[in-house]
Amino acid sequence: MRVLGIETSCDETGVAVYDTDRGLLAHALFSQISLHAQYGGVVPELASRDHVRKLLPLVRQVLAEAGLAPADLDGVAYTAGPGLVGALMVGAATGRALAWALDRPAVGVHHMEGHLLAPLLEDPGLKPPFVALLVSGGHTQLVEVAAVGEYRLLGETLDDAAGEAFDKTAKMMGLPYPGGPELARLAESGRPGLFSFSRPMTDRPGLDFSFSGLKTQVLLAWQGSDQTPETRADIARGFEDAVVETLAIKCQRALDQTGARTLVVAGGVGANARLRERLQALAEKRDARVCFPRPAFCTDNGAMIAFAGALRLMAGQHEAAVVTVTPRWDMASLPSV
Ligand code: KG4
Ligand code: ZN
Repeated sequence: MRVLGIETSCDETGVAVYDTDRGLLAHALFSQISLHAQYGGVVPELASRDHVRKLLPLVRQVLAEAGLAPADLDGVAYTAGPGLVGALMVGAATGRALAWALDRPAVGVHHMEGHLLAPLLEDPGLKPPFVALLVSGGHTQLVEVAAVGEYRLLGETLDDAAGEAFDKTAKMMGLPYPGGPELARLAESGRPGLFSFSRPMTDRPGLDFSFSGLKTQVLLAWQGSDQTPETRADIARGFEDAVVETLAIKCQRALDQTGARTLVVAGGVGANARLRERLQALAEKRDARVCFPRPAFCTDNGAMIAFAGALRLMAGQHEAAVVTVTPRWDMASLPSV
């Protein structure tokens, strides 16, 4: 089955074709970073309008790269939530209309399920059960995955998401949008241990997270410092170490609690090199396995939506010929496959 995947939930237009026999045939991404940079964050209305401009050219490009005509598609998958409602509507309306015109089934995909399943895209041997750490700009969750579509939330952030903490901290120290990757780059040259921040909520049992206090600690450290580029890098390093260590401690607890031997990491912060290193070391120490998508498939992309949609379409699930999106969407409410 060949499935077109469309991702437009935030500031990236992603399109891909996934073939359930041959794997990923083509994928393309257009990032709106330069559009939003001057505002220091995503402007929802500008995001929607840019998705309108970029989506169909990207669909044409991906089909050409895959050597396919539209009629060769067997189904269409689009992100139906969570996300920015206007941005979601662009992908949903386009995907639904394409499927209607081609007389093929269409399915609305949960964006976080897309992230969660992304590691399986390139590793056919990887199968549930496992524990997933989802770390994106909007979510920080530990999820027990019994099967595709059977998700139990073990813990989540009570305030800022990990990616959001990276972005806000970077902004506070004057780094350009999007701050997360910038701050990680800066931390590379920072010296470890010069600035030490707390590992929030690791001193009590449980798998929930809280990152907003950490952000305040960094602000106070930054305001009280000499604010040189070297100090900024040292603070970035201290912040990154605190987030990475906090995530690692909770992952370890989640593996202990569930008895799972596999940890899957997905979402934009999963592209962070130090997090990947730390979780790799954790897995090796306890003879477990940790799996990440390649960094480009950690951040938003069309491939993960094509893949997750293909699994649901293969299971016979599809939407009625109406366009609905769900900007706030609990993943535990999904049907199993
Ligand atoms: O999954 P994603 O692309 O979009 C959402 O669904 O939110 O995640 C984006 C988040 C942003 O907060 C971004 O700063 C963060 O992931 N991010 C990183 C890195 N690359 C992206 N955070 C830390 N280190 C990175 N290398
Ligand atoms: Zn995402």
